[in-house]
Amino acid sequence: MALISAPFSLKTGIKIMTNNPNSAPDRWSSHFVFMLATIGSAVGLGNIWKFPYIMGENGGGAFVIVYLLCIAFIGLPVFIAEAAIGKKGRKNPWESVKDIAAGSGASKNWQVAGWVGMLTGFLILSFYSVIAGWAAAYVFKAASGSFVNASAEQVGDIFVNHITNPYQLVFWQTLFIVVTCFIVAKGVQKGLEKAVNTMMPTLFLLLVVLLLYAAKIGDFSAALSFMFNPDFSKLTVNGVLVALGHAFFTLSLASGIIIMYGAYLPQDTPIVKTAVGVAIADTVVALMAGLAIFPIVFANGLAPQAGPGLVFQTLPIALGQMPAGIVFSTLFFVMILFATLTSSISMIESSIVFLIEKFNLSRKKASLISGSLLWLIGFATIASFSGMEFAKVDFHYLGKDVKNWFDIIDHTTSDILLPLGGLFIALFAGWVMKKADTSEQLQTSPVIFTIWQTSVRWIAPLAIVVIFLQLIGIISF
Ligand code: TRP
Repeated sequence: MALISAPFSLKTGIKIMTNNPNSAPDRWSSHFVFMLATIGSAVGLGNIWKFPYIMGENGGGAFVIVYLLCIAFIGLPVFIAEAAIGKKGRKNPWESVKDIAAGSGASKNWQVAGWVGMLTGFLILSFYSVIAGWAAAYVFKAASGSFVNASAEQVGDIFVNHITNPYQLVFWQTLFIVVTCFIVAKGVQKGLEKAVNTMMPTLFLLLVVLLLYAAKIGDFSAALSFMFNPDFSKLTVNGVLVALGHAFFTLSLASGIIIMYGAYLPQDTPIVKTAVGVAIADTVVALMAGLAIFPIVFANGLAPQAGPGLVFQTLPIALGQMPAGIVFSTLFFVMILFATLTSSISMIESSIVFLIEKFNLSRKKASLISGSLLWLIGFATIASFSGMEFAKVDFHYLGKDVKNWFDIIDHTTSDILLPLGGLFIALFAGWVMKKADTSEQLQTSPVIFTIWQTSVRWIAPLAIVVIFLQLIGIISF
């Protein structure tokens, strides 16, 4: 079947494809499959782990509003831009950008955005795989009944015991990286992405049940008011930056992956509609995770600003009290793990294509090298969470007080590099790409095209620049 032989199973699939621009086997069999793959990439720890805790750290409602605005007016247009760049360029992210730039008489240097994106995705994966390891460990904790009727205190202890044991963290992180690399080395992502077909609806259903249960045993009205009753006095400039960065993070933008997935789109894909579908699915999952977590936070006197442990310290409380809690909680963490895997394979892919094409390596070797590097860099995150002295730092850097290496990596990638990457993509699609090309790729109504073009030319770049200028203190509101 077309889909199975598709791009990633070929060592130099992208080049082969460029030689045969119309050969069907190198395309997604329909744009719906692209949508599944991008939803698989988009929905992950960003929605279930990160969104709730950064919302908690940044005061709730006001942060949610800024986040939603960032998704709609910045993330979505950049997503469309990336898919269009990929579909036009039909190559890996940097070569697509380079070719399009050349075709428009612009500098080849635009491809730097592709390199930086690849590196950003790679660095993000270094901490992502550590957190994914927590989720993997929690599958087993859930299955062994550790959460059954556990109190908030017990659940908190389980979490602290887990993250302060570096051997545990290394064990699960290693396992997660090995599985990710195994999948990409074999080029069988398509199989996994097909699993998204059943996995996403299941995760969604489990989240609904969990949300209802949390509403029943928790303080749902406090959660609603925390999430949707904005108090702008609680929002800092850094909070706005975090919301902006997370819009890119959660949609898997500015890292090359959407360009790469877009390269395999059938010619007649309705990019705009597809992108809207992905953004909505992704946002709904994130909001539902918040709605499942915060009732438990408030009913148990926990702190919304608990940080990266928030999800792991709250959901097990509800999961452990539910009827058939063992089955349900195990299933829940398995689903999270699946969602995380479909994201991690997308994050590592650019670096693997890079190694294959630059150093003429096989897919296997490239996966091995990429995975080993990730594994090593991941120690910075592990040392940070397990509280090792040498991982501690204490300084203020671009709007944030960083306390350890994880903070530095996360802040640099999620808050700084992703928005900067998004800025370049927006400018590139808005000003460098020929209008004839973009409108041919988007295939949408003139009104929607104009809205999109205004977003990538003006709204997104200006918003990003203003937030950065504010952050470094050049302007202030
Ligand atoms: N979007 C994923 C999530 O929310 C994470 C992710 C996948 C990602 N690919 C990426 C983040 C590329 C940044 C860049 O969990």
